[in-house]
Amino acid sequence: MSALDHNSLEELKDNGFVKIKNFLNEEELNSIKFICSKYCKEKKHKDNYFSRTALNFLFKAISFKYSRLFSDLKVLKIVSTKKLENFSKDYFGKNVELSNIDGYISKKGDSAILPWHTDRAYSDEKGDKKIKNFLHPDDCNLKIFVYLSDVSSGNGCMSYIPKTHKIGFLIRQGIYTKKLDYSPYWSLNQFRSFLNIKKNYDYIEEQLNDKNLLKSFLVESQSLEDNKKSIYDYEAKAGDAVIFNEGGIHRGSKPTINDRLVLRYFFKPKENSYTKF
Ligand SMILES: [Fe+2]
Repeated sequence: MSALDHNSLEELKDNGFVKIKNFLNEEELNSIKFICSKYCKEKKHKDNYFSRTALNFLFKAISFKYSRLFSDLKVLKIVSTKKLENFSKDYFGKNVELSNIDGYISKKGDSAILPWHTDRAYSDEKGDKKIKNFLHPDDCNLKIFVYLSDVSSGNGCMSYIPKTHKIGFLIRQGIYTKKLDYSPYWSLNQFRSFLNIKKNYDYIEEQLNDKNLLKSFLVESQSLEDNKKSIYDYEAKAGDAVIFNEGGIHRGSKPTINDRLVLRYFFKPKENSYTKF
């Protein structure tokens, strides 16, 4: 039976993320962990990506990569076993596509996986990219992060500031519709600076149902810049999952105790018409 129920969906819609305990059962965990340990390297390595389309599978077949092909089928099967597509469809309220499946290992060490940031922000901490086209605000992934090793606070866990996906969506919508002028908003610092511009603040506040959200976010996030506070850290055991909207503010802490192995499934809306969060 799927671990993804109505309550998980409501929590995800409201907070932008939800933790699912025992997302994989023991047998699934052993099998998936074996596959990912065998094929997945450090982030963005070409071997990390699992097949998700008929073409991907065909390519593996004609390249005689049968062992990899059967492993990829097992990884893809989780999508139907856990009803991930239906869940994502219910989340966005529209048809979705599986946009990525990958796994990667983060070696135990001292460097943070990623500091506080939002995805779909075109840029990075430097904010100096030349942007030709802005993405439609619905062009944003729901990420299903399956832990294949234990994580804890300060040891590879994911952290997410609740409800910030609602603010991120309105930033992207404002820029896309040319109601707001683009300025970098990838990092927490940039995100806060963007919101502190009066025109931006007023546009976003006007459209939020919760009129306190913006104000309280700006107050509460003020002390997070040092990256040390752990109030938004989410511990997880191997087999648990965290599902989150990548448009909210999140970070990945450094794995200080053990290597971190994860498997990720991404879904995003097929059509570009606005999703209301
Ligand atoms: Fe991210």
